[in-house]
Amino acid sequence: MGRIEGKIAVVTGGANGIGRSIVERFLAEGAKKVYSVDMASGKYEHPNLRHIEASVTDRNKLAAFAETLKAEEGGIVDILVNNAGITRDALLSKLSEDKWDIVLDVNLKGVFNMTQFIAPLMIANGKGAIVNISSMSGEFGNVGQSNYAAAKAGIIGLTYTWAKEFTQKGAAVRTNAIAPGYIETEMVLSVPEKVLDVLRAKNPMGRLGKPQEIANTVLFLASDEASYINGQLISVNGGQRT
Ligand SMILES: NC(=O)c1ccc[n+]([C@@H]2O[C@H](COP(=O)([O-])OP(=O)(O)OC[C@H]3O[C@@H](n4cnc5c(N)ncnc54)[C@H](O)[C@@H]3O)[C@@H](O)[C@H]2O)c1
Repeated sequence: MGRIEGKIAVVTGGANGIGRSIVERFLAEGAKKVYSVDMASGKYEHPNLRHIEASVTDRNKLAAFAETLKAEEGGIVDILVNNAGITRDALLSKLSEDKWDIVLDVNLKGVFNMTQFIAPLMIANGKGAIVNISSMSGEFGNVGQSNYAAAKAGIIGLTYTWAKEFTQKGAAVRTNAIAPGYIETEMVLSVPEKVLDVLRAKNPMGRLGKPQEIANTVLFLASDEASYINGQLISVNGGQRT
């Protein structure tokens, strides 16, 4: 018996990196169906996996996706993981409006967009679990990441708000967030090796995190084991506090 046996999950940004680890873990833990919504095409297959090619910024496509969920799953969604995200780093003095706009549009408004389509299905069904992927940068700030840190801090505010809003009238729709530290994905491994060494040295555990270590935490929060955990931010960063 898997830890999310029979559940239906939606994961954004599931084609690569942390999102892919989350999708694979959900499938291994008995998910009945996982929908990975990603603007990139998903290059791996599973009988219970469906890749949906869409950007979280494209509200028309997300509306069509919600209709698909109604047609194929009777509108039942048990788990939503808002994971899709990008970086466009620059010091504030060099941060173009374009870089500001796209990071806020994908990383923050994308979470609003997807949740606005999925949360009503969960509320109508009386239960559900939402896990938002924030970041250490959203908790503590980071040089060169004004846009990214603002979006990721915004996600924490959304999480606290939805924990109160979606549980009104007795619905057991829980919303939590995870703030990963530096995790070994394309997003981070594109950084020069010398810089990665500095990042490792700054971490109490002396290493970067693995996508699976984020997936483990997502799985827990998404499962019924976390049935009384709502409106929480869990940092998964090896103990780093800056
Ligand atoms: N890697 C890290 O160190 C780290 C640390 C903290 C937080 N995070 C967060 O974790 C999440 C996943 O990051 P990752 O490291 O796996 O990145 P990644 O670049 O490896 O994967 C991100 C995925 O999101 C998809 N994506 C990007 N824009 C999208 C859009 N508009 N619509 C749909 N899908 C889109 C990409 O195609 C890709 O498949 C992000 O929200 C990121 O900010 C990552």
